[in-house]
Amino acid sequence: MAKQTITHDPDDVLIVGQVGRWAAEKHDRLRKYIDASHNARAKFLPPIGRASASYIELYSGAGRSVIKHTTNIIDGSAVVAFKASKATAHPFSDMHLSDLKPENSSALGQRIKALGGAATTTSYVGPADIVVDQVIRAINPAGLHLAFLDPSIWRSCRSRLSNAC
Ligand SMILES: C[S@@+](CC[C@H](N)C(=O)[O-])C[C@H]1O[C@@H](n2cnc3c(N)ncnc32)[C@H](O)[C@@H]1O
Repeated sequence: MAKQTITHDPDDVLIVGQVGRWAAEKHDRLRKYIDASHNARAKFLPPIGRASASYIELYSGAGRSVIKHTTNIIDGSAVVAFKASKATAHPFSDMHLSDLKPENSSALGQRIKALGGAATTTSYVGPADIVVDQVIRAINPAGLHLAFLDPSIWRSCRSRLSNAC
């Protein structure tokens, strides 16, 4: 009998995405980058700086994902980023999180809120190439911004057999 795919996290009863096994390494690198860059954020945040240090994701997913062909549920990149920055002395002052699917944006927003949220967390919904303009208008031009862009191009690349992928 085929295994049933997990669609919701039993811990918060919100939807989960699906990721490959490599996601854990991707998230680990993101976590390390956010940890290593906390002194750079400090220069833009009070009391040293007068601007902001934001985190931007335009293909965010739902904030929790099941690893394909397993029952292991892991944090999504935005949740990893939120926790990693909170663990430093200089957390992000604002987060701008978006996904094409409203249900993903909503689940992620609820998960970040449940964790205490960044000083300002803004959720968006829609195609990244449209939402990017809203995010650019919302962020402080004098701030330090980390954009993590992680579209799901794998399937389309394979089907097109493109050399560019
Ligand atoms: C690879 S997943 C993101 C995984 C997430 N970064 C993580 O590591 O937890 C890609 C996401 O992009 C979303 N997506 C696909 N096309 C999009 C588009 N044109 N604009 C915005 N989001 C899109 C999908 O709904 C999916 O949630």
